[in-house]
Amino acid sequence: MSKADIIVGLQWGDEGKGKIVDHMASKNDYVCRFAGGHNAGHTIVVGENTYALHLVPSGVLSKETKNIIGNGVVLSPKDFIEELVQFEDLSGRLFISDKAHLLLPYHTLIDQALEKLKGKDAIGTTGKGIGPAYVDKIARVGHRVGELQDCTKLADDIINYLEQNSDLLSVFGVEIPNKSELIAELESYKKALSAFITDTTLMLWNALVEDKKVLLEGAQGTMLDIDHGTYPYVTSSTTISAGACSGLGLNPKDIGKVTGIAKAYCTRVGNGPFPSEDLGEEGALIREKGGEFGTTTGRPRRCGWFDAVALKHAVRVNGVDEIALMKLDVLDGFKEIKVCVAYEVDGKEIDYVPYSLEDAKPIYKTYEGWEKSKGVRDFDDLSKSAKEYILELESLVGAKIKIVSTSPQREDTIIR
Ligand code: GDP
Ligand code: IMO
Ligand code: MG
Repeated sequence: MSKADIIVGLQWGDEGKGKIVDHMASKNDYVCRFAGGHNAGHTIVVGENTYALHLVPSGVLSKETKNIIGNGVVLSPKDFIEELVQFEDLSGRLFISDKAHLLLPYHTLIDQALEKLKGKDAIGTTGKGIGPAYVDKIARVGHRVGELQDCTKLADDIINYLEQNSDLLSVFGVEIPNKSELIAELESYKKALSAFITDTTLMLWNALVEDKKVLLEGAQGTMLDIDHGTYPYVTSSTTISAGACSGLGLNPKDIGKVTGIAKAYCTRVGNGPFPSEDLGEEGALIREKGGEFGTTTGRPRRCGWFDAVALKHAVRVNGVDEIALMKLDVLDGFKEIKVCVAYEVDGKEIDYVPYSLEDAKPIYKTYEGWEKSKGVRDFDDLSKSAKEYILELESLVGAKIKIVSTSPQREDTIIR
């Protein structure tokens, strides 16, 4: 019986999970998403081609690998269908849990309207409807993919729910749809999705019994986790490794290695505290060199320095065995590189993530930069100061940096 390995983001998302999952996909029989929805944007570069994946797992570019969208995901059929267009027929290679929750157009309207109402206190969501879809799931008024079996009943149930809540929902611009139009829309979803819908938990249990290799692909990042991130500036799901169990129907004994993905610096999209943010020229340079603009929304990402305190927290909360350090090349040419090694909160120095990061000021240590790491594929070919930087990060966060990525390309990846 095999165990499933996990890939998980250790910062505020966009660490480069897609590149690493794709890099490992050909050695795995299954790649499975367990949380989030199309708020995720996982970019994969293969030669001249760039793919932006939102719901489809990052194993899709590896022809022999099967891909699962687990019950923990909130799935917008409309966006899923649009995403599928870029691929050849994926039936037999892609499976969707019948227990995954449907993200429907009214969720998107509610998300966008709530953000507008919040004004300056907005979370800065992706506006895709993720929060409201999870709210409905937890409030036990959501709808699951399996309900597409009977579109007439599903349409009745949706209309009933919208009518019961019409006073509230009209504020968000949600209108009660025409029943026959809704049935037609749901039927079109059913037609496009039915080849993929199955009991994915059973499928995974069988795969593990048959000793297959299984990789679980996280979305978002630890600091966006609903419990362990910078609440309320977080997403609405469990993004950490523990979420992989509930989001797929596995138990903790099914889990093998946990690989955490972190950039050699740090970024965040949306609002909320970011102690090591650099609002000056260096932050802007990182944004420009790193192409730090959102895959999903195109928003400029906030940029700053590696936060070793947050990373140590993420290593612990995820049970990280190994780290993949991404985008080392983006720091090429910087004379000096800063790392946040502690926070100052209320005049005290602390080395852990407190209840709130709102007032945490970074305490930095400065390291010598290097000329070039771009495209390097062997650890020994890195310059002395780049190697020292990596070894220093390892000792600050307490986990081995096993992989170092030096460009978006699959092959530009150092395995130590
Ligand atoms: P994810 O959401 O964690 O999968 O990350 P994103 O795809 O949103 O953002 C990571 C971006 O960095 C993508 O555009 C990748 O192509 C790119 N990328 C990944 N690894 C590297 C690297 O080592 N160097 C550079 N320069 N870019 C990288
Ligand atoms: P990947 O998988 C970066 C952020 C949003 C916002 C907050 C809540 O590509 O790493 P939501 O729409 O989820 O309710 O927004 O979470 N966010 C991400 N930031 N990468 C992501 O995914 C993100 N998914 C959500 O910007 O701050
Ligand atoms: Mg992303």
